[in-house]
Amino acid sequence: MQQHAERVIIAPSMLCADFRCLAEDIRRLEAAGADWLHFDVMDGQFVENLTYGPIIVEAARPLTELFFDAHLMIEKPLRQIEKFARAGAQLICVHEETVDDLRAALEAIHDLGLKAGVALNPDTQVSALAPGLEVCDVVMLMSVFPGRAGQAFILETHERLRELVDMIQAVGRQILIEVDGGVTPPIARELWKLGAGAFVSGSYFFKHPGGYAGAVQEFRDACY
Ligand code: DX5
Ligand code: ZN
Repeated sequence: MQQHAERVIIAPSMLCADFRCLAEDIRRLEAAGADWLHFDVMDGQFVENLTYGPIIVEAARPLTELFFDAHLMIEKPLRQIEKFARAGAQLICVHEETVDDLRAALEAIHDLGLKAGVALNPDTQVSALAPGLEVCDVVMLMSVFPGRAGQAFILETHERLRELVDMIQAVGRQILIEVDGGVTPPIARELWKLGAGAFVSGSYFFKHPGGYAGAVQEFRDACY
């Protein structure tokens, strides 16, 4: 059984934040007890949508002590990792589909002093992660096709998670599994039991009737 972190990691997707008052929203997220801020970076090439670059991370950095997780849904991510490191990202996740040499890409992120993660699209074989499992800190299992928030969770993710947990156990390293896309607390509960330790949430989290604190509490209550 995958030994995940004792305490579930909750990572609101900043794609769904209120950009009219980003500073206030970030302070509210921290006060509500979120653990990470998940920055969804899209280039309009790897995925259809275009969001933001390191400038948002740089603006957010002085506002909070929260851990910054940069999810690079971009082509040629290695061109950008240094800028995200300088901007204040602490974890950079690159898509396996966008790098030629996964191990080298993860080592390049480590060389910047950051945690290194690899993200995997729902239609990419989990086995494609093998070259990265010796060095990565995080595997981000996409449970939607990347490109926008508000999509339905892909149910095959459970089976893919089981396969990933087995691969990680065979490697014998501590690797955090982050699941990203369409995650709600009941879904998180199932994934937590299978060994996932961190959950990104966008639409469910930011539209929660109980506000950010209610959303955090519901995710925490689901994972124990
Ligand atoms: C999708 C992003 C996800 C997404 C999460 O490309 O990587 O982080 O914004 O939002 P929900 O939880 O609404 O799927
Ligand atoms: Zn994401």
